[in-house]
Amino acid sequence: MEINPTINNKWRFCTFASFIGCMILLFCMNQGQERVKLSTLPTMGASMALYNDSDDQHAAANTQFFLQPSNIIEYGKVVSEEEAPESCNIFDGKWVYDPMTSPVYNGSQCPFLSDQVSCQRNGRPDFEYQKWSWEAKGCKIPRFNGTDMLERLRGKRMIIVGDSLNRNQWESLACLLYSAIPSSQAQVQVKSGVYKVFRAKDYNCSVEFYWSPFLVELEENRESGSKILRLDKLSYSATKWHGADIMVFNTGHWWVHTGKIKAWDLLEYEGKLVEKMKIESAFEIAMKTWAGWVDDNVDKNNNTKVFFRSISTEHKGKQWCYNESKPTMDESYAATFPSSIVEIVERTVGGMRAPVRYLNITKLSKYRRDAHPTVYTAKQGKVLTPMQQRQPMSFADCSHWCLPGVPDTWNRLLYASLVFDNSTDAFIS
Ligand SMILES: *[C@@H]1O[C@H](CO)[C@@H](O)[C@H](O)[C@H]1NC(C)=O
Ligand SMILES: *[C@@H]1O[C@H](CO)[C@@H](O)[C@H](O)[C@H]1NC(C)=O
Ligand SMILES: *[C@@H]1O[C@H](CO)[C@@H](O)[C@H](O)[C@H]1NC(C)=O
Ligand SMILES: *[C@@H]1O[C@H](CO)[C@@H](O)[C@H](O)[C@H]1NC(C)=O
Ligand SMILES: *[C@@H]1O[C@H](CO)[C@@H](O)[C@H](O)[C@H]1NC(C)=O
Ligand SMILES: *[C@@H]1O[C@H](CO)[C@@H](O)[C@H](O)[C@H]1NC(C)=O
Ligand SMILES: *[C@@H]1O[C@H](CO)[C@@H](O)[C@H](O)[C@H]1NC(C)=O
Ligand SMILES: *[C@@H]1O[C@H](CO)[C@@H](O)[C@H](O)[C@H]1NC(C)=O
Repeated sequence: MEINPTINNKWRFCTFASFIGCMILLFCMNQGQERVKLSTLPTMGASMALYNDSDDQHAAANTQFFLQPSNIIEYGKVVSEEEAPESCNIFDGKWVYDPMTSPVYNGSQCPFLSDQVSCQRNGRPDFEYQKWSWEAKGCKIPRFNGTDMLERLRGKRMIIVGDSLNRNQWESLACLLYSAIPSSQAQVQVKSGVYKVFRAKDYNCSVEFYWSPFLVELEENRESGSKILRLDKLSYSATKWHGADIMVFNTGHWWVHTGKIKAWDLLEYEGKLVEKMKIESAFEIAMKTWAGWVDDNVDKNNNTKVFFRSISTEHKGKQWCYNESKPTMDESYAATFPSSIVEIVERTVGGMRAPVRYLNITKLSKYRRDAHPTVYTAKQGKVLTPMQQRQPMSFADCSHWCLPGVPDTWNRLLYASLVFDNSTDAFIS
């Protein structure tokens, strides 16, 4: 007799609890739908609700928002004031002195590091520039985990395509991975600066570098001896890009070269040779050629992850890199790189059908004028002589980066993007 009321009470409580539960669920779903409408990102609402059990994953759910290409242009419009604090942009943050976790590997134990960027080996006396860690404003960026990265690369092919700054990034990634496995398991093939490949046998994976500073074809014409840049034809190595699971592209720096270092004499477009064309127009056509290839060849069924790495900051003029020992936090430093080129990159990447992630490392690199090789570098394959090292005005390199160094952070952010992608299923676009 006494049991019934208890059951009754339990039953009432149960009904009540279910009702509250339903209300909460409905509320959440509404929130989710609103987000979807606002940001045009189908996964946004779901990921917010599903991934809530750890700080990293929470950060992940928010961060993918910034990595979606279709969002690049609309970003300013879609994020309202109250949403901003809880979302996190891994490219927005600051450098923190952290000698415990940086550098991630020992440069002198990475046997294939090139002379161009082996600053310590070339005699750079200070180490401090290696000890800074990039921290985002709104969340924790996962540390680079070589074993985990290799696990993600298992059975896969990754390609890094672009100019010598992407080679810098390849060298960094190869060293990061190399330091995570026994050296007997690694294989590195370096055929000049044009093609390099790192393989990890146990993981059956490879990371290749293809030198292609314009992404489109540059041809030395045999008859006339003139160099022709074909704006609507991808570079020769494009036949090798097919089938890669992860692709990282960059271009930009070679387009703004003038005078003696300008690489082409004539531009070719739609079968016609053009002598004069605004560099912005030429660059935009070439970017569209590249974007068209990616759009035609990469879709979500391929599971291919495509990254475009933004312009890496060069330090010239007043912001020269020589003799610097600390990052600068000078927000006022205006990059010497033409903003029109950056705008074309962002417009092109933002307008693509394929899901391309934008590794927006320009700002974080801009703070690091202490981290270039300066005179501790090689030119034309030869390490600078002590005599040359005393002439920084003529010989300092303020565009590439010492390794270990800044490109390790680019790779950490690339790794973070992969980690976040897996935890949020962000590939529906
Ligand atoms: C979501 O996270 C909050 C705060 O960390 C926690 O209190 C809550 O139980 C979590 N919810 C779920 C469904 O995991
Ligand atoms: C890239 O970063 C720069 C500097 O933080 C910022 O001004 C720019 O809007 C970012 N671009 C995109 C497409 O997010
Ligand atoms: C890096 O490795 C070299 C050679 O194995 C060693 O002499 C040096 O002490 C190491 N540096 C650090 C900071 O561990
Ligand atoms: C790195 O990743 C591996 C494999 O996923 C994991 O076992 C290990 O604990 C990770 N290490 C750190 C320091 O997080
Ligand atoms: C190694 O990976 C390639 C793809 O990169 C694949 O075609 C091949 O079957 C793999 N081999 C083994 C033994 O798993
Ligand atoms: C993606 O798959 C399509 C057909 O499904 C194929 O034509 C294309 O080459 C693949 N792209 C890459 C980058 O492998
Ligand atoms: C660089 O620093 C050294 C030592 O502090 C100094 O002697 C030299 O004048 C500096 N050079 C330049 C170009 O600033
Ligand atoms: C990440 O996702 C891909 C594709 O969905 C899958 O092949 C891979 O095993 C996942 N990696 C990890 C570490 O979960």
